[in-house]
Amino acid sequence: MEQLKIIGGGGTTRLNGSIRIGGAKNAALPIMCATLLTGDAVQLRNVPSLRDINTTSKLLRELGVSVSELEHDKVTIQAYGTISTKATYDLVKTMRASILVLGPLLARFGEAWVSLPGGCAIGARPVDQHIKGLQAMGAEITIEHGYIHAKAPAGGRLIGAHIVTEMITVTGTENLLMAATLASGTTIIENAACEPEVTDLAKMLISMGAKIEGLGTSRLVIEGVEQLHGTTHTVVSDRIEAGTFLCAVAATGGDVTLTHVDPTIMGAVLDKLREMGLQMELTDTTIRAVMTGQPKPVSFKTTEYPGFPTDMQAQFMAVNAVASGASRVTETIFENRFMHVQEMNRLGASIVVDGNTASTEGVLPETLSGAMVMATDLRASASLVILGMVAGGTTIVDRIYHLDRGYQRMEEKLTAVGATITRVQGLSEDEVL
Ligand code: EPZ
Repeated sequence: MEQLKIIGGGGTTRLNGSIRIGGAKNAALPIMCATLLTGDAVQLRNVPSLRDINTTSKLLRELGVSVSELEHDKVTIQAYGTISTKATYDLVKTMRASILVLGPLLARFGEAWVSLPGGCAIGARPVDQHIKGLQAMGAEITIEHGYIHAKAPAGGRLIGAHIVTEMITVTGTENLLMAATLASGTTIIENAACEPEVTDLAKMLISMGAKIEGLGTSRLVIEGVEQLHGTTHTVVSDRIEAGTFLCAVAATGGDVTLTHVDPTIMGAVLDKLREMGLQMELTDTTIRAVMTGQPKPVSFKTTEYPGFPTDMQAQFMAVNAVASGASRVTETIFENRFMHVQEMNRLGASIVVDGNTASTEGVLPETLSGAMVMATDLRASASLVILGMVAGGTTIVDRIYHLDRGYQRMEEKLTAVGATITRVQGLSEDEVL
């Protein structure tokens, strides 16, 4: 199993240079599934090279969709000819976002079999809102042998409906939005997620001929059309990857410029980083971040966009671990997203979890010492890499397949700005003692 071996500076590592930010994983995934809505070719640009992107390509190919090899950051996808409407367990179990083929398959072909996504480390993550919304659009849905079996009403076309989701769900909104583009009549989605990745999906659907109003708001109005056509779309920049590297600078200190970013979609995260003492100069596409001295602690609650994102919680906790005081973080989106805390405490952090709140007493960076730690989910892995760069000695982060799901060769990007990180495998704890 691959690992990252990090030689930390005991509080002396400084990051200096430039890092290019890729396209957003959580925009590219629904956007790739949306290509099922047309038989025309769709050209995508700024697609990140990630494990989850490869999984989605495999899933689409399994359905009979033509997906070109990802060349640099470009891919062409065409759902033409005989397309299967069954997404099998063996792929869906590796990536929950596979549920995003449900809406498009049902809307275009009138039927879909999608394996129920299994459990997940950070929470139960049910898909009841996806199902209820599609039922409101006339779909007949049964759960059979671990599969969601969905059928459009007689005639094969979904019917526009007024849907109010019971909670704000990102992929739930995306599934219903995609399904509504081909339904007959008008669909209104109230309580819709307004994350930038949802808006990027909507922009691509509009470029394919969809009629959607309310982008960026919690009320989306979709006028169904008979069919959609091909397009070329550039995926929005990954605000979570950008925020992750900004946390790395805040924790280690240094002077790093991020390129190919969109600062306008990073609001709450930039505010909190400034509170920590990170100085930033913004242009339309770059963020220059300068950090000197120990970060100040920041407390926050995770909420839906435009609030503080749950996907940045672990990374900020890593910075809080070496901040000059106490902080409290409350996780309101997922029920089990503090698995990184125990791993951080193995490095010398002082964090206590009580229910959905974690309280941190910041320690001096030079008091952290390297250890063998285990990644448990995508963002937790990134937070351990950040702390590993600060700790003195060697840290080995195990199970980094989690990291590769959402970060393109993180070790190369960090090494290029001064970190000492190598990709290894099979190392034991002897390496860190
Ligand atoms: C998306 O997951 C992201 N994934 C997650 O990013 C992100 O953490 C999450 O949104 C919240 O922002 C992708 O976009 C591929 P939700 P999603 O549906 O859509 C409950 C990462 O690190 N819920 O917004 O699965 C659910 O249990 C990943 O890149 C229901 O109860 O999240 C959760 O408590 C991790 N029923 C809350 O809503 C439903 O039908 C929000 O979940 C749907 C959701």
